[in-house]
Amino acid sequence: MSGENRKLRSQEWWNRTDYYSYSRRAWLRSEGFVADAFDGKPVIGICNSWSELNNCNVHLRAVAEAVKRGVWTAGGFPLEFPTISLGEMFMRPTAMMFRNLMAMDVEESIRANPIDAVVLLCGCDKTTPAQLMGAASADIPAIVVPGGPMLSGQWRDRKLGAGTDGRKLFDLFRAGKLTEEEWSEVEGGIARSAGHCTVMGTASTMTSLAEALGMTLPGCANIPAVDSRRYTMAELSGRRAVEMAREDLRPSRILNREAFDNAITVDMAIGGSTNAVVHLIAIAGRLGIELPLEKFDEISRRTPCIANVKPSGEYLMEDFFQAGGVTAVIRDILPLLQGDALTVNGRTLAENVADAECFRREVILPTSQPLYPEGGTIVLRGNLAPDGAVLKQTAASPELLKHRGPAYVFESHEQMHREIDRDDLPVTPETVLVLKNAGPKGGPGFPEWGQIPMPRVLLKQGVKDVVRISDARMSGTSFGTVVLHIAPESAIGGPLAAVQTGDPIELNVPNRSLSLLVPADQIEKRLAERKSEPAHFERGYGRLFIENVLQANEGCDFGFLRKAAPSPS
Ligand code: FES
Repeated sequence: MSGENRKLRSQEWWNRTDYYSYSRRAWLRSEGFVADAFDGKPVIGICNSWSELNNCNVHLRAVAEAVKRGVWTAGGFPLEFPTISLGEMFMRPTAMMFRNLMAMDVEESIRANPIDAVVLLCGCDKTTPAQLMGAASADIPAIVVPGGPMLSGQWRDRKLGAGTDGRKLFDLFRAGKLTEEEWSEVEGGIARSAGHCTVMGTASTMTSLAEALGMTLPGCANIPAVDSRRYTMAELSGRRAVEMAREDLRPSRILNREAFDNAITVDMAIGGSTNAVVHLIAIAGRLGIELPLEKFDEISRRTPCIANVKPSGEYLMEDFFQAGGVTAVIRDILPLLQGDALTVNGRTLAENVADAECFRREVILPTSQPLYPEGGTIVLRGNLAPDGAVLKQTAASPELLKHRGPAYVFESHEQMHREIDRDDLPVTPETVLVLKNAGPKGGPGFPEWGQIPMPRVLLKQGVKDVVRISDARMSGTSFGTVVLHIAPESAIGGPLAAVQTGDPIELNVPNRSLSLLVPADQIEKRLAERKSEPAHFERGYGRLFIENVLQANEGCDFGFLRKAAPSPS
């Protein structure tokens, strides 16, 4: 049964003749609703990750009001509810540690309540994958409305991309080439409004991929946070959520294998964040879909990177939006996509982009003249990463993509911070910087420490990049020849744990390999003699995390959440 006649899930809560149904209606009327406000209407939950502790999502209460207008207009009944929010800038030890907690919050908040469809309001890095993971598991109709990126940063006459330019300017400041006063001006101008970061970092990648997955209305992903069209789109999404409730259009019908292939392809075409690999694997895992790392590499090899946006390219998200955004990218690479994939508006991906245009060809390049002939992220294997590692080749230095050099090892993040600015640090442009104990369990929480800062001694020589390898993640706004997500991680005895300062390491991107050039028996001996560190947490969520988090190549979800076991509806 579908449409107006379908029995709505919410009616089980208050359209019965028993006492509890009466009391639920009474308690809802305590909010001041008239008696028939929710009678027979689809209840649309507005799942809000607003928080003043998350500047990127701080405007989402206003976005929610626009969604509500749409829901009322379409004959639905909106109810907004909060979840935890994950502010990338503030959370310790790292927002990533709480992505799964937020996904559980989203899933259970949806499932436990009288909701017929849900509008997911997200933005900052982890909030989008967390909501998609939770909504995929709850599997009631869901539509994503991201908050959109900030206005472009500005310092004097320069446009600045959050993260990307901030790090470059900070290196100048560390090298004594910017004054305190100038650095303070940068701080005041780099983040000029609500919204998520202004480059193709994790937030813009994941919101763009939400559109590629078919989970937003077309054209929704990249509208800036403070643009009036962000609110128009939110209202339209609210209207559509009411129809989706009536149609019972669930995530499980949209998020299929074809949708994930599309998302990976778009990720490569936009030069998306390396974090997208982990998040897409985790979201797919909620639906019982396996995404092996080889799938990313296979798609990367056949997909040109056409988004000329930082950190891979030149422009910012505001420019990308003006150029047509991810909708125009999807249109341009449609031959590489499964165009018949279903989306939240009930139409196919190909139908949605049929009229999409690119308005700034210097920002979204033609596929015949891409920024890079291959996709942004590639997968490496080898005796240092038996279960894989990733590298964003579009943000790396071309001359370092084939490199052999001696390791300089930091056993911990603390050691790295103590030593990185030492004037006598024994490193050269050939050195491979190695950071251990920064993975999902070792960090803990899989922190974004992978872009090991350039040693000051090298910055002073004018060296801007060296090969850096770790089991950490890095911010999607970062750049450099940085190998990440090495699995298994060093804290559980992965081969990275065996590396010693001076060992030769070889990175060979064309061959997709990462090798420790030390005899196998030596590596085994070192690993056998290694002492394991005590667990970071003895109780609470931290303990739950350490005991259950999967490795990077498995998406870092909790194993017990990935199982596609049926849950009570
Ligand atoms: Fe929130 Fe960058 S800090 S998106």
